[in-house]
Amino acid sequence: MSFSILSTGRALPKTILTNEELCSFVDTTDEWIRSRTGIGQRHVCMEESLTELAAEAARRAMASAGVGPGDLDLILCATISSDYITPSLACTVQEAIGASCPAFDVSAACPGFLFALDVADGYFARGRAKRILVIAAEAMSRLMDWRDRSTCVLFGDGAGAVVLGPGEGLRSLSIQTQGRTNVLYVPAARGNLPGRARGPESYAVMDGQEVFKFAVTAMCRGLRGSIRDAGLSEADIDWVLPHQANMRIIEFAMSKMKIPRERFLINIERLANTSAACIPILLDESREQGKFKKGDLLAMCAFGAGLTSASAVIRW
Ligand code: ACO
Repeated sequence: MSFSILSTGRALPKTILTNEELCSFVDTTDEWIRSRTGIGQRHVCMEESLTELAAEAARRAMASAGVGPGDLDLILCATISSDYITPSLACTVQEAIGASCPAFDVSAACPGFLFALDVADGYFARGRAKRILVIAAEAMSRLMDWRDRSTCVLFGDGAGAVVLGPGEGLRSLSIQTQGRTNVLYVPAARGNLPGRARGPESYAVMDGQEVFKFAVTAMCRGLRGSIRDAGLSEADIDWVLPHQANMRIIEFAMSKMKIPRERFLINIERLANTSAACIPILLDESREQGKFKKGDLLAMCAFGAGLTSASAVIRW
């Protein structure tokens, strides 16, 4: 027995930072950002904690499934930007929503949501859970050096959540990790050494072109692999939910896959790259817009620091 998605939810920070506003303190232009990435604005946590955002997404998904905190058997949070190094975001969300089941984080960068689904799949396969809450939430703004135009323009903050129950919705799921850590990383914040001053601040560091090369390959290979593993052909896919890192990466996948362009779901212009939260936010927005009908086949694919990548096909 595997799982089906019972419901979805999302939450976004109130503050929107447009490209024009960014230009007032970073040496960039709206034209450069839009033409190189497709991004027009991003939401940023100015007032909200990540826990508040994640808990809000969770409450919405739980309300939609008619599930209370006492019904949950497990909470999984995919994040790389938790409020605390410890306890985990899953713990702080558990406290916020008043649940008492086991809760832990999954750290796999942008494909973290799909890695968390893979963990959930194992719980259902062993009959250890009837209801699992999976949240992906990121405050990427906190990991940025807001003076570094090559990274800070790309990311946004947000949270998405799903409630899973036993079922046959999951058709295929595959995760990969390459152990290649020098092209995209955030060093751990350093404390004081005995007798010495505090170390340097830690920000995201990225070799954009290397990540780009990895991403275009990972996107097409991942989608094709998951579709094949599900015993399907590209023509069977109703919707593609690609990681929202760069519109040019998505365009590349559109040009290579035998899936009509209009089946690719996109919100990068409004939300930028919310890392692990991209796919569950896209899921919830598209559900709300009435795009999915029962039985639709959704193909998902994401890639990120590690280098990690993951893809899945799920029946709605
Ligand atoms: N505004 C203006 N100019 C800029 C900016 C900016 N925001 N950023 C870089 N530039 C300049 C550079 O300094 C460079 O100038 P130079 O030629 O004078 O040296 C020029 O633009 C070209 O820079 P490139 O890095 O070659 O630009 P490129 O076309 O590769 O686009 C980008 C950069 C958008 C980062 C692209 O490489 C990319 O999207 N890579 C993938 C990134 C990604 O997907 N990251 C996340 C994946 S994992 C995850 O989601 C956590």
